[in-house]
Amino acid sequence: MANTVLVGAQWGDEGKGKIIDFLTEKVDIVVRSQGGNNAGHTVITGDKKYVLHLIPSGILRPGKQCVIGNGVVLDPVSLVGEIEGLRAVGIEVGSNLLISDCAHLVMPYHRALDAAKELAKGKLKIGTTGRGIGPTYGDKIARTGLRLADLMQPELFCEKLAVRVEEANAQLQAMGAAPVSFQEIRDASLAAAEKLRPHVINTVLYLHKALAAKKEMLFEGAQGTFLDIDHGTYPYVTSSNTTAGGASTGSGVPPHRIDCVLGVMKAYTTRVGEGPFPTENDEIGDMLHGMGREFGATTGRARRCGWFDAVSTRFASMVNGIDEIAITNLDGLDTLKTIKVCVGYKLDGQDIEVPPSDYQRLSACEPVYIELPGWNTPTDHCKTFAELPQAAQAYSLKIAELTGAKLIIVSVGANRDQTILL
Ligand code: GDP
Ligand code: IMO
Ligand code: MG
Repeated sequence: MANTVLVGAQWGDEGKGKIIDFLTEKVDIVVRSQGGNNAGHTVITGDKKYVLHLIPSGILRPGKQCVIGNGVVLDPVSLVGEIEGLRAVGIEVGSNLLISDCAHLVMPYHRALDAAKELAKGKLKIGTTGRGIGPTYGDKIARTGLRLADLMQPELFCEKLAVRVEEANAQLQAMGAAPVSFQEIRDASLAAAEKLRPHVINTVLYLHKALAAKKEMLFEGAQGTFLDIDHGTYPYVTSSNTTAGGASTGSGVPPHRIDCVLGVMKAYTTRVGEGPFPTENDEIGDMLHGMGREFGATTGRARRCGWFDAVSTRFASMVNGIDEIAITNLDGLDTLKTIKVCVGYKLDGQDIEVPPSDYQRLSACEPVYIELPGWNTPTDHCKTFAELPQAAQAYSLKIAELTGAKLIIVSVGANRDQTILL
């Protein structure tokens, strides 16, 4: 396997964690390069279920190296909690986890500001995960952020933190929100720092040595293409580049060392949080929720659901340079007699080829559907593509064709072994 970037081709929660876990067997290193603990990546092996937030999903496979790159934002206290949670269930987390000293720190005032800003927006709220992601990336871009390298130097960290807390409290006060305590943040952060210290290095150097040694890497995208800060449904997006380019800037691995982009997409579409969603459909939502599916891995919120949208996956294919695709949750459609797929949008009577950039126009788009025959029979036991019902094979190949990339994986269940490699 070459150096591969795995991206979500929809609005997040495409099943990236499951596919990463499946592919990790074939690589040496798994790298997270953007986002933070807003991500929730589910991996199910046998009777064990894990939800990874900041730690690469590769951690579950012994002998694989995991790297949290410079582009990630991390909450030190919650990261320590995640490490300890994994150790408590017997997963080794030691020198197999390396963390970039350039990663920016999510501090409690970022979470407080995230909440206060959402409240102030009222009906126009984004529906964030409340993890402080936007305010942290805001500080990074404004060049006022604190990084893991600062936290590794307690005295310097305390000096910088004092300034940041004062400014954040002024902002919080102006918004009518409760202030945060410098002492509490300092003590919790410094305690977490000592637990993280053995993992903290210059990961750019590490990854370049690994490239020279011909190690193979898998970049674990978080969120999805339409949550990208540049290419997503702005402002209903997250605050990082979730598309393939983010893997390079967020890790220091140059673009020409990346050989393949794998897009992961559900056989239908989901989105959590506010924002436009042209193919949203309550009936398919009720059906999936009725099966106990499509509740958020991070916040537990019910995900909005809709038909597969090939206009958006085709655009995702363009911005990410998707070579290959993995379709997940095909089994979610097992009970349907016919299945709709959106192949175009109409806006003001015109045919639209790509999703309009502004959300008001995107919200006004009418999807144009084709209907494909369903298979109306369980697929979750199928081990090969040939074992899938003809209609399920045809459906998978059709959405790959509409997206414009080669189908290499079909997933028919949440478990590691319910994965069909073509
Ligand atoms: P991620 O954020 O992209 O890693 O996706 P999440 O873990 O947030 O959400 C995907 C959900 O679908 C999780 O509950 C997975 O266990 C589940 N899942 C992934 N692939 C399949 C599949 O093929 N079939 C079924 N039934 N569940 C799946
Ligand atoms: P994974 O990696 C789905 C959504 C939030 C909200 C918007 C902004 O599991 O696919 P943020 O907290 O990032 O400022 O929220 O982005 N969002 C996700 N939706 N999956 C995710 O991650 C998400 N991470 C953020 O619901 O709409
Ligand atoms: Mg998720």
